Amino acid sequence: MLHDPNHLYIFDTTLRDGEQVPGCQLSTPEKVEIGIELQRLGVDIVEAGFPVSSPGDYQSVVELSKNLQDVIICALTRANENDIKVAAESLQYAKRGRIHTGIGSSDTHIQYKFNSTRDKILERAVAAVKYAKTFVEDVEFYAEDAGRADDEYLARMIEAVIAAGATVVNIPDTNGYCLPHQYAAKIQYLKENVKNIDQAIISVHCHNDLGLATANSIAGVIAGARQVECTINGIGERAGNTSLEEVAMITQVHHNAFDGLKTNINSKQFTSISRKVASMMHMPVQPNKAIVGRNAFAHSSGIHQDGFLKHRENYEIIKPEDVGLDEADIILTARSGRHALKHHLERIGFQLEKSDLDIVYGKFLDLADGKKNITDDDLTQLVNTTTLNA
Ligand code: KIV
Ligand code: ZN
Repeated sequence: MLHDPNHLYIFDTTLRDGEQVPGCQLSTPEKVEIGIELQRLGVDIVEAGFPVSSPGDYQSVVELSKNLQDVIICALTRANENDIKVAAESLQYAKRGRIHTGIGSSDTHIQYKFNSTRDKILERAVAAVKYAKTFVEDVEFYAEDAGRADDEYLARMIEAVIAAGATVVNIPDTNGYCLPHQYAAKIQYLKENVKNIDQAIISVHCHNDLGLATANSIAGVIAGARQVECTINGIGERAGNTSLEEVAMITQVHHNAFDGLKTNINSKQFTSISRKVASMMHMPVQPNKAIVGRNAFAHSSGIHQDGFLKHRENYEIIKPEDVGLDEADIILTARSGRHALKHHLERIGFQLEKSDLDIVYGKFLDLADGKKNITDDDLTQLVNTTTLNA
């Protein structure tokens, strides 16, 4: 597969790794609705489901294939012929279809999941890729639990599946085990030790068990991976997957560190797609979640509010408009200073002299001590019931 060396491919798995979380299940029309939003967002690949797992998943891959023509539609399989055949059938309407097949690569998986040996697992991996190639040109191979796999064995496996025709090789940190420098070293090792590595794109797929999914994915990209597997809001198995919006904003904010690498993501859609996914999948976003959390652009302490109002860049590395929010939020609390209060009063039409502001500020602190959210109505009432000097 020809690929653009300056492009960082965004592979969204919200509808597969994200959707398999208990309580997050979606109907086929709901998946299509989110799929259309993902396409608008600019992702390159939508992992649409695991077709052999249920008739619903199968149907979703069919419908997503019919409705999304501007992205690659990917279907997941295990390394067996039936899974692959069913996935290929489900992709029959896809303009560009990809089969994502794979098998465990760590000794833990080989021994306790498959009760097998390294050599036999490697044979199964190669056979799966060869079989998938009989249906589609674009075959991605995942080496499950690569994060804990022996590097030398992993390199042999990756070299063999590329020789069998894999166009993308996914190196999942399935259990969110690695530290960023270890994960980067693994990708680097593969780049240096897999003879045919340039014939495939290296993909990173990280889970968040230690809160390192995004850091590991970014470390992998810096080490040479060119596809990131991620989900909206970072939803996914257990502690979740790498968060799409974090990866996209990191590459934007730190573009110099990424050697001109670009994604097609339109970050202005983050707020709306995040809210849609959270509500349709019944998975609220934690308020302090980077980029899309309710407080991600809310300044609440007096020192920060004052600094922010003097110059946004004192406390803002991303403009809220860039992620689809109207403006940053200066929250009035008992820790807010006069500057923040003045800002809010002016916003609702009150221009107070310094001495009047001091009086209102005293009353504001009394009110804010007992009330968490100070609203515009509270402020109006405060000014209207205060005897001012001017
Ligand atoms: O985490 C994982 O290893 C996966 C694979 C199936 C790609 O989700
Ligand atoms: Zn996963």
